[in-house]
Amino acid sequence: MVRPVRKMPGWPDATPPFPRVRAFFNANVMDDFRALLAVTADRVTVAMDALLPRSTGPEERLLSAMRYSALGPGKRLRPFIAIEAGRMLGASERGLLRVATAIECVHAYSLIHDDLPCMDDDDVRRGRPTVHKEYDEATAVLAGDALQAFAFELLACPDTDASPSRRLELISGLAAASGARGMVGGQMIDMSADRAAADINIITRMQRMKTGALIAFSAESAAILAGASADVRRALEGYAHDIGLAFQIRDDLLDAEGNEDETGKAVGKDDNQGKATFVTILGLDDARDRARRLAAQAKDHLEPFGERANLLRRAADYVLERRS
Ligand code: IPE
Ligand code: IPE
Ligand code: MG
Ligand code: MG
Ligand code: MG
Repeated sequence: MVRPVRKMPGWPDATPPFPRVRAFFNANVMDDFRALLAVTADRVTVAMDALLPRSTGPEERLLSAMRYSALGPGKRLRPFIAIEAGRMLGASERGLLRVATAIECVHAYSLIHDDLPCMDDDDVRRGRPTVHKEYDEATAVLAGDALQAFAFELLACPDTDASPSRRLELISGLAAASGARGMVGGQMIDMSADRAAADINIITRMQRMKTGALIAFSAESAAILAGASADVRRALEGYAHDIGLAFQIRDDLLDAEGNEDETGKAVGKDDNQGKATFVTILGLDDARDRARRLAAQAKDHLEPFGERANLLRRAADYVLERRS
């Protein structure tokens, strides 16, 4: 028997076009966080598809590589955090989708460059060939560069938010999270020759920068769009910092004990490349424990929001148990 399609607030009347969304609507699993995450992921992918440039000109290969990477089957956890935090604070849906797209474009760029032979030298990402394998190295470098630039172009556009000062805040926030004091700085520590000798403080700093900063900006961007008070921003920032670090510890755990079928990327790489991680320094059990404590701490920061923050709480639980 075919179940009638469940209607969600904010969705158009037509059946949503994506299979995972259809499965969710038909399976009646409203309380399943993974299904909710998949719905948001598909929604963000639709928005990204519409926003990302297309070209039939001589630079088409670049645009194609950008779309291959950005529209690939990622979890879209950063957009989820931005959108859910923004909904909780009453930010506009359109602004949130555009900001989520910008964040995901920076994330996609970071993954393209992270996979290059001069960095982690990976052939598989999200269960498909990495960009330099599907295209070539020059195209991969350029696609990463262009995705980064596109993210800032999106934020600068008045369609993202009518207020120039908010747009400026978004731009400088994303720049700080992405640059030398954020993701790129963390990647530099990751690549440095003495990484194998790094202690827990250096590893914590590296993970907070390379992964935590962009996740933290995801929550911060929602507060900016909503014009939230300093107290609200502080609470969300605390949440996102803790969840960001827990997320990367889980990534290190999955590299040590996950499998390629589930993660969609090679595993055992950190060990092979002699990289110190939370797992190599603390061991599996203590790394798990630290991630658990961070997720609990992240939820403590949500106290002021009461039940309105339940989905963000579940995101913290999801970070601990995710297998991909
Ligand atoms: C992978 O990020 C890289 C890290 C920062 C650990 P995700 O695990 O969010 O990757 P996708 O976007 O879901 O593929
Ligand atoms: C990369 O960390 C974080 C980024 C800023 C892209 P990893 O190198 O551990 O990410 P994966 O395991 O390749 O996804
Ligand atoms: Mg790396
Ligand atoms: Mg890597
Ligand atoms: Mg990893």
